[in-house]
Amino acid sequence: MSIRTVTTQPFSDQKPGTSGLRKKVPTFQKQHYLENFVQSIFDSISPPSGATLVVGGDGRFFNREAIQTILKMAAANGFGQVLVGRGGILSTPAASCVIRKYKTYGGIILSASHNPGGPDGDFGIKYNGSNGGPATETVTEAIFAKSKVITTYRILEAADVSLDQLGETTLGNMKVKVIDSVSDYAELMESLFDFAAIRALLTGGFKIKFDAMHAVNGPYAKEILEGRLGAAAGSVMNAVPLEDFGGGHPDPNLTYAHDLVDIVYGKDAPDFGAASDGDGDRNMILGKRFFVTPSDSLAVIAANATLVRGYTKGIAGVARSMPTSAAADRVAKALNIPCYETPTGWKFFGNLMDAGKVTLCGEESFGTGSDHVREKDGLWAVLFWLNILAVRKQSVESIVREHWAKYGRNFYSRYDYEGLPTEEANGVMTHLRDSFASLTDKQFGKYTVATCDDFSYTDPVDASVSKNQGIRILFSDGSRIIFRLSGTGTEGATLRVYLEAYEADVARHHLDAQDALKDLIQIGLNISELIVRTGRQQPTVIT
Ligand code: G1P
Ligand code: ZN
Repeated sequence: MSIRTVTTQPFSDQKPGTSGLRKKVPTFQKQHYLENFVQSIFDSISPPSGATLVVGGDGRFFNREAIQTILKMAAANGFGQVLVGRGGILSTPAASCVIRKYKTYGGIILSASHNPGGPDGDFGIKYNGSNGGPATETVTEAIFAKSKVITTYRILEAADVSLDQLGETTLGNMKVKVIDSVSDYAELMESLFDFAAIRALLTGGFKIKFDAMHAVNGPYAKEILEGRLGAAAGSVMNAVPLEDFGGGHPDPNLTYAHDLVDIVYGKDAPDFGAASDGDGDRNMILGKRFFVTPSDSLAVIAANATLVRGYTKGIAGVARSMPTSAAADRVAKALNIPCYETPTGWKFFGNLMDAGKVTLCGEESFGTGSDHVREKDGLWAVLFWLNILAVRKQSVESIVREHWAKYGRNFYSRYDYEGLPTEEANGVMTHLRDSFASLTDKQFGKYTVATCDDFSYTDPVDASVSKNQGIRILFSDGSRIIFRLSGTGTEGATLRVYLEAYEADVARHHLDAQDALKDLIQIGLNISELIVRTGRQQPTVIT
């Protein structure tokens, strides 16, 4: 077996986005494309000789091929050992758990999260550091810089390694250890939650349905929910991970998880429904005919944390991404703990958690998590809710309604306009920026603009500054409209419009969010000139 140094040419489009590098599968299949990026990672992180790396992915099309390439490149770049999930499978939170548990140098996660997969679908790759979290912007910038000047990469010439049996093999001087994809993660969950109480709930007539959406969480949910917690057989649906997610869009929201939604809103509905995404880090929580917005879910989890075994001592603080509703802020205020507002993307939570400033964090995009790992964690959120339900013995709906009665309700919705020509999307953003001065103090019906800005964040731990993180139109009553361009899409531009209105009056809490936000939506469309500039009458998806 010999190490080959291969001459290559840089690609200009390897800038990591909100969560790693995401491209269509055929892009990743281009000669040297994956190799260039992997070498750029290794060159940026300069692993000490003999370091241990974790590798795994969500099992989508191209996962296995990519892993074989990465293993051979790791061997040629001086790693001593790689831990790989069996079959190349590790959910994103499980990868984070394994990196932390075995104190490895870092890990490479292969996933395009909730984006569809298959030969023409999306693929992705990202690097996580030794804390188990996504590389910081400093590291992703360094990777991008390397990718623009790369001239060679190193790879071991060797046969493929079998990934389907547990145990150790060698690749050159490097050990490859195939580990069980589920057990370390399941053990961590068992340490955080009262499995006996949840088991009593689930075997005592409380019915649940978990939609794994043919994605990575199938085996995790089967083992934990049906295996260890005794949920009835069949409680986990679409449990077999498929390379193309069965042709579906593995994003747990009311639009794409429609199989589950039909069940939870249908006859004989279960008491609790949940779904997770392609790589298992997102979650959607449903009660019987009741949807919990991700922003509310974070707030409810924060308010009830001390009921849950791993969190009885209380939480140090909460963090939410800027577009996420301020529901969690109200809980933080009541608990007298800090609430941090970060840019979109999980990588901004890592420093806060490492410094012990926050315990819980969340995003409106169906992401919730805690400092047990450094990624958002879909199944963790489900177990957190089940633990709360086991203790409070109330329905999901009554828990949320009581929460609103106490803290007020933050009506919330997000409108996504996908696949826009980049110039049109940029045009909307530029127009908004140009309107800041004329918008300030302007009145729209009952809403008055207090301020407008382009969100900028200074990390309280390392003082790094992230600019242009979304345009905020802030109204005097606390309502907000936010405009932001997605950093995870692979086709054209996706413009996201986030809407939030606070309502203290319980008599209005029953309103449908779309009704409650009607006026704000109109204001957002008018001031952005979105319809005229893009020709889109309707958003692609509303969540
Ligand atoms: C989206 C979400 C963001 C999340 C990211 C990765 O990013 O909006 O909250 O962290 O996916 O799951 P975006 O496409 O908006 O850049
Ligand atoms: Zn994901």
